[in-house]
Amino acid sequence: MPERQRISAEAPGAYTLADFAAEVRAGLGKPGQKELPSKYLYDEVGAALFEVICALPEYGLARAGERLLERHAPEMVERLAVPVVVAELGSGSGKKTRWLLEALSRRQAVTYCPIDISRAALARCRQELGQIDSVSLVGFERAYLDGLLEVAARRREGERLLVLFLGSTIGNFDRPAGIEFLREVRRILAPGDALLLGTDLEKPVPDLLLAYDDPLGVTAAFNLNLLARINREFDADFNLARFRHQVRWDERERRIEMHLVSTADQSVTIPKADLTVRLRSGETIWTESCHKYNLEEVAPMAIRSGYRCDAQWVDQEWPFAQSLFMAL
Ligand code: AVI
Repeated sequence: MPERQRISAEAPGAYTLADFAAEVRAGLGKPGQKELPSKYLYDEVGAALFEVICALPEYGLARAGERLLERHAPEMVERLAVPVVVAELGSGSGKKTRWLLEALSRRQAVTYCPIDISRAALARCRQELGQIDSVSLVGFERAYLDGLLEVAARRREGERLLVLFLGSTIGNFDRPAGIEFLREVRRILAPGDALLLGTDLEKPVPDLLLAYDDPLGVTAAFNLNLLARINREFDADFNLARFRHQVRWDERERRIEMHLVSTADQSVTIPKADLTVRLRSGETIWTESCHKYNLEEVAPMAIRSGYRCDAQWVDQEWPFAQSLFMAL
């Protein structure tokens, strides 16, 4: 299988239309397995569908991550040196972060810096979290690492950084690229700074398949929207009725893979990307990987990327871990 999502420094959406066209050409024009990078799933429609996914009963991941923060935020913040500036990578609406900010604001005045490439997400985040007493919000419309560099450059003498990477987005990177991303974050931090990392843990395969192929078809729509988006942005002629959402579990890589299966021999033109694609019936376009972890492999990930794992909190209902890494 080809390596993918090797680029570690990009937030979903951190690209120009020309980048997008180049990646469509590269991914759909290559011999063998066709693929499209998962970051392109999140245009306005895709981001809205993802919000719905997070509310689906079959997709326990988002609720598990939030439950851990709701239950353990006071313990989490007690482990941090103060004063601390909070930077969140890919904040989205910021809803789950409220618990942490409220706990922190009982100890100190907090500066909270959500970093998201989506202006709409930052606006929602400001609505959700902009009114908490003793919390001042400074949003950064940037790719993760660019935003984090800015936050780090602005910190005052004696302030610690707490970086939040909460929703198991790390799982959307290949494992080596995930480690490389953690290292890149570490390079921006100083010793004693912290990273709170969310990782979705392995669970029975039928539960995972259902989480990524829900009976309502929301995840299928989320996946198919990638082709609809290419139609919208590049005047392409993908016929969505000739594709179907497919989810696979790769036992060796311990990941869910999302694919779009062509249900006919067909040819698609993508004029603004200067490309014609031929697909055989049954051929797939690989659109996303969602790696799952053992709890035991998370602390070694910290060591390999320049941190020590200080503490972990695990949700029992939907196995998911929030791990607090301290930069060495
Ligand atoms: C954003 N990311 C953590 C989600 C996941 O579960 O890997 C993306 C997703 N794709 C389909 N459903 C959710």
